[in-house]
Amino acid sequence: MTTYSHVPVMLAEVLEYLNPQGGGRFIDCTLGGAGYTLALAERVGEKGKILGIDLDELAIKNAAAEITRRKIKQIVLVQDNFKNLKDIVNANFPAETKFDGIVFDLGLSSAQLDDEARGFSFKGDRPLNMAFGPTEAATVDIVNQYPLLELTRIFREYGEERRAYQIAKAIVAARHRKKIVTTADLVAIIEQVVPFRFYSKIHPATRVFQALRMETNEELAALSAVLPEAVNLLKPTGCLVVVSFHSGEDRIVKRFFKELALTDHLRILTKKPLIPTMAEMAANPRARSAKFRAALKTDNF
Ligand SMILES: C[S@@+](CC[C@H](N)C(=O)[O-])C[C@H]1O[C@@H](n2cnc3c(N)ncnc32)[C@H](O)[C@@H]1O
Repeated sequence: MTTYSHVPVMLAEVLEYLNPQGGGRFIDCTLGGAGYTLALAERVGEKGKILGIDLDELAIKNAAAEITRRKIKQIVLVQDNFKNLKDIVNANFPAETKFDGIVFDLGLSSAQLDDEARGFSFKGDRPLNMAFGPTEAATVDIVNQYPLLELTRIFREYGEERRAYQIAKAIVAARHRKKIVTTADLVAIIEQVVPFRFYSKIHPATRVFQALRMETNEELAALSAVLPEAVNLLKPTGCLVVVSFHSGEDRIVKRFFKELALTDHLRILTKKPLIPTMAEMAANPRARSAKFRAALKTDNF
């Protein structure tokens, strides 16, 4: 198996806020390289339980191998979409099981970005597939079939791309000539509209790739759907932590926390989102855009 590389982001803060104790029960909704899951499992010990969820088979296989190697018994792994959290818990735990903490670390892992079989990265030439799991809508269909204005909207909303309309127009013109099938096909079209020199720091394809990934996996919809379920699965005083990397995600979490705080169901622990320390950002550039929010459940909502 290829090695799964991902450095966990803000792990110290995740552990500080979730505060795992012996015998505790936690859910890691975005297993990835299992950085959070393994650290939580160590702290809750054999009497505790950690549920680790990921859509990605690679993440599940990597974690399963590591769990076997370390002879850990208290981790349950499930390959599924976290938007199905309630059903996943019902299928794997006794009725009415509640948890001490639930964590989300959104987006994609470094291992997925590096995966040659998928098209998360605009470097190289790969199939245009940005799905986290096996069953999502194909990126290639979005690029080749979405109407001009729909492409413009997702590039603008999810990518915050200033030239959204021009890029969408170039894609529509190009796909009339020839189907767009690889990441290199797409990058070549974007580079015609936005020459590299117009961008100081990031590649011109960065924002469009992010937008297509978010649309392919319906990421904002999954987050909005799961937050109420997550709160429902917490014990009173249980902690919900969300680490996000996109302003749209952070806005959803902020609004959700505020709404439930107004009705006294949640107590917000991070008035403003925490960000990684300078040392973490220097050591792990991927951490730079991370925003960390945490809240405590106050009652039996
Ligand atoms: C940033 S990584 C998590 C890294 C992890 N915290 C660690 O320490 O290694 C995000 C993971 O969430 C998964 N993911 C994203 N959206 C998901 C969803 N809706 N359901 C299940 N897994 C999802 C991705 O496949 C990816 O493996």
